[in-house]
Amino acid sequence: AGGISDPGLITTVNKLQDVFTTVGVQNPIDLPQIVVVGSQSSGKSSVLENIVGRDFLPRGTGIVTRRPLVLQLINRAPVAKTNGVKEDVVSTAGDKEANIDEWGEFLHIPGQKFYDFNKIRDEIVKETDAKTGRNAGISPAPINLRIYSPNVLTLTLVDLPGLTKVPVGDQPRDIERQIKEMVLKQISKPNAIILAVTAANTDLANSDGLKLAREVDPEGQRTIGVLTKVDLMDEGTDVVDILAGRIIPLRLGYVPVVNRGQRDIDNKKAITAALENEKHFFENHKAYRNKSSYCGTPYLARKLNLILMMHIKQTLPDIKTRIQASLQKYSQELQGLGDSVLGDNHNIVLNIITEFSNEWRTVLEGNSQDLSSIEL
Ligand code: GDP
Ligand code: NA
Ligand code: MG
Repeated sequence: AGGISDPGLITTVNKLQDVFTTVGVQNPIDLPQIVVVGSQSSGKSSVLENIVGRDFLPRGTGIVTRRPLVLQLINRAPVAKTNGVKEDVVSTAGDKEANIDEWGEFLHIPGQKFYDFNKIRDEIVKETDAKTGRNAGISPAPINLRIYSPNVLTLTLVDLPGLTKVPVGDQPRDIERQIKEMVLKQISKPNAIILAVTAANTDLANSDGLKLAREVDPEGQRTIGVLTKVDLMDEGTDVVDILAGRIIPLRLGYVPVVNRGQRDIDNKKAITAALENEKHFFENHKAYRNKSSYCGTPYLARKLNLILMMHIKQTLPDIKTRIQASLQKYSQELQGLGDSVLGDNHNIVLNIITEFSNEWRTVLEGNSQDLSSIEL
């Protein structure tokens, strides 16, 4: 959709986010993020992997996601073939799937590029255990992962633990309350866009994701419904009434998707094949074929990208005011402290201010198509 997917603005917002996380400062700016909520096994990880187009999330039974995963997708043009293979790719020799155009980077391991998406999964598991221990406890400390790829639209998504009722093993007894609190904390931010995932073969009225979303967004102004497992619905039933807003209306609407089933995953079915299958499903199903362009993962990704852009655009004046206030405050604090007092922190504080100023200048003076179409 022309300039609307130009990553300039969203990339800047991502960088600002990193500045705060890196220095451990409580984020004074509620940057817009798309937060994924839904009950355990509703298909959250599957939706995220389909949007990215790669397998990289830990899987298994029980609560697999036990820390928030802040997933920043960054669209990036492919490297021209004539450039040859970059030097830092050599380490992934032997990985058949290695592709120099797609890689991940964790904020907690600066500078290391993960071209092997299996290693991304391993690192998420390792980092989760490092902060939560092995008794399947949860921690609100986020893991920040960026994925650069020519095949993604620039988006920031937050994956959260699935809503669950019953503690298993030596999980804390109050696990349900802990998860609910973590989810509520993320989605109550007015800037959060809630991606409420519900399996289409379960009753929408009982959707844990939608119930929590309604607690913080009663009018359904910033909630998008995602209906998974449409392929598993009983013969003769469909989600047409839900899509038409006749069951639980949401201003941003619902998108039906078909992800890989457990057997597809066991058989290592590639995501590209799964996306083909999804397209075929909607184009040939009698309930959906006349609206198939509004169904499926690629439509969901485009819609999210657009919503994020519009949301940032709407909140930009407010973000601008708050960044300027923070800048002023930090500058004053810095001036009030002599070098001797600041010691080693001097550079850190200076860096924050420099980063702030630079990123903000990019937003104000940015010459990308996105920015020129945005009224500041
Ligand atoms: P999460 O716990 O919400 O992250 O759910 P997962 O993405 O791990 O999915 C749970 C199970 O449902 C897995 O076995 C998936 O293969 C399966 N699943 C998810 N979405 C779909 C779908 O659209 N169709 C089918 N047939 N299975 C799905
Ligand atoms: Na749900
Ligand atoms: Mg999951």
